[in-house]
Amino acid sequence: MKKKIIITGGTTGIGFACASYLLKNGYEVIITGKSEKNLKNAIEKLDNKVAGYLCDISDLAAIDEFVNSIKEKFGKIDGVFINAGIFKSVSFENTTEELFDETLNTNFKGSFFTIQKFIPILNNPASIVLNTSIVVDKAFLNTSIYTASKAALESICKVLNLELASKGIRINIISPGVTESPIQQKSGMTDEAIKDLLHHFSSTSPLGRIVKPDDIAPILEFLVSEKSIVLRNEKIIVDGGSTL
Ligand SMILES: NC(=O)c1ccc[n+]([C@@H]2O[C@H](COP(=O)([O-])OP(=O)(O)OC[C@H]3O[C@@H](n4cnc5c(N)ncnc54)[C@H](OP(=O)(O)O)[C@@H]3O)[C@@H](O)[C@H]2O)c1
Repeated sequence: MKKKIIITGGTTGIGFACASYLLKNGYEVIITGKSEKNLKNAIEKLDNKVAGYLCDISDLAAIDEFVNSIKEKFGKIDGVFINAGIFKSVSFENTTEELFDETLNTNFKGSFFTIQKFIPILNNPASIVLNTSIVVDKAFLNTSIYTASKAALESICKVLNLELASKGIRINIISPGVTESPIQQKSGMTDEAIKDLLHHFSSTSPLGRIVKPDDIAPILEFLVSEKSIVLRNEKIIVDGGSTL
């Protein structure tokens, strides 16, 4: 039977590339997003082979509704990629309470409760993969609240591996470097600043080019498959060596 994998924020960028890769490799894939237009586009681009749900991850009632729909339609699930997230480029001094709440509610609170609410419908074994970021390990300007949200997400990984072990649930981390995706256009950075950022990481990383969403997909496949069954709290940094 095909393994069933949920990808939160599977409509664009990294989540979309992962959905496409898992589909091609024999998985049943369920994606979520916040924007109806992006969700519709993604499902069409994936030839209607994925199930898609609108679920604003920062809304706990929406997560409940989503998990109930999955339970009714698919029964038990084998893996969840906690990928939905936002980034706004703002200095520490200019970070407003609104941005603080929006970032933490999406990247941390939404992720925290999505994991919690999925536990009853996860198979044994099941794999949860957290998408964090290299900002946790290396300081980048204008990322204080984003960094806090991703560090918070990483911080629960060890605890969950202990608490959920008896249910056969394991949790690992993908920590991408700067990856070319729509997130940059949504960040509030100017086109010039985005160009400079991507150029900097293309020209200075040992990989010799910028990381693309397609680079991350096989790593996710490894972590949701039983090839990685012995891994717990492993963090795979996918940055082409840019933080070396
Ligand atoms: N690109 C990078 O350089 C980079 C580096 C390290 C880590 N990451 C992480 O990778 C993840 C994916 O980012 P990406 O680069 O692929 O960017 P992206 O193309 O902007 O993808 C973000 C995804 O998250 C969804 N999303 C955002 N807010 C949501 C919400 N409240 N509820 C449900 N879905 C929501 C988006 O859906 P809608 O379009 O419907 O809003 C979209 O599907 C993020 O967690 C990001 O922090 C990215």
